[in-house]
Amino acid sequence: MINSSDFPTRKMPLSHGAGHIPVLGFGTLIPDPAETISAARDALDAGFRHFDCAERYGNEREVGEALQAGLAAGGIAREDIFVTTKLWNTNHRPERVEPAFEASMARLGLNYLDLYLSHTPFAFQPGDNQDPRDQNGNILYDRGITLLDTWRAMETLVDHGKCRAIGLSDISLEGLAPIYESARIKPAVVQVEAHPYLPETELLEFCKKNDIVFLAFAPLGHGMTPGPLEDPVISAIGARVGKTPAQVLLAWAVQRGTALLTTPRTAARARENFDISPLPEDALDQINRIQTRQRFNEVVRTGSPGFIPQGR
Ligand SMILES: NC(=O)c1ccc[n+]([C@@H]2O[C@H](COP(=O)([O-])OP(=O)(O)OC[C@H]3O[C@@H](n4cnc5c(N)ncnc54)[C@H](OP(=O)(O)O)[C@@H]3O)[C@@H](O)[C@H]2O)c1
Repeated sequence: MINSSDFPTRKMPLSHGAGHIPVLGFGTLIPDPAETISAARDALDAGFRHFDCAERYGNEREVGEALQAGLAAGGIAREDIFVTTKLWNTNHRPERVEPAFEASMARLGLNYLDLYLSHTPFAFQPGDNQDPRDQNGNILYDRGITLLDTWRAMETLVDHGKCRAIGLSDISLEGLAPIYESARIKPAVVQVEAHPYLPETELLEFCKKNDIVFLAFAPLGHGMTPGPLEDPVISAIGARVGKTPAQVLLAWAVQRGTALLTTPRTAARARENFDISPLPEDALDQINRIQTRQRFNEVVRTGSPGFIPQGR
């Protein structure tokens, strides 16, 4: 195994001089409030400095609490951590963007954000109900608004110095390209599902060409089985290099030039997921040759979160 002690602490530059994003990110999609606090603290202790949040996760207060406590206890400065949160679909109307952003910042207890993402490209009927549906259970979309309208409102947040970078999530290449063309402030980050069963190679190439950080969620396939964690190619590489399947998958994601989000819920898993090392070239080739294709999260098709964490 190649030695590289700085591997887990690597950062990628963001466009427009908006700073650097640590490649290893901790995701806060954890339904239980107490577990959110303990897992975020454990992640900070393990070395994670990048925290991915969302209005939709309903736990920004708990993440904020964990971060404040962790920073104070660990002598870590605000500038040493990178915090993202996301605009939910019901707040896409331009006049709702800044209030939604301010409310997220207040819940997190922060006075600036490193990154603000539109959670999905789908505008839902505006209002307090995050999941508006008709009597047949169909999502009520807001047809009077485009993603570009929402993006323009997000650009003003950067103008006002409240967030350093903006980006998009759950977007396809077809959805990203026109926003990229029209944007005054180009998307700095695109957050999408990616793992060896869904490599999103074309989108990754577009991002690399245009200085957009590709941020992979579900690098472990959301932990679902069958899935990449149990893939025989991944297990065999893990056995060969003395790493767990999770560590192999996370290393592959970093080595192909993406940042990633993972959600360890215990201190032991936080340490495991942070303890990654580069894989040899032939192992990367083997992973790139895996033929299985599977998307685990349908959110990209409808804007409705398609993933219920297992066992919760
Ligand atoms: N933009 C979006 O629409 C979107 C959608 C989904 C997620 N996200 C973000 O991405 C983050 C990452 O979530 P994810 O589900 O994609 O993370 P993930 O790390 O791919 O999957 C988490 C699952 O993997 C398991 N796991 C974690 N570490 C493991 C290890 N070392 N060995 C074996 N299993 C392990 C966990 O099991 P246990 O729970 O049993 O520990 C959990 O079931 C989320 O928290 C959220 O911030 C964004």
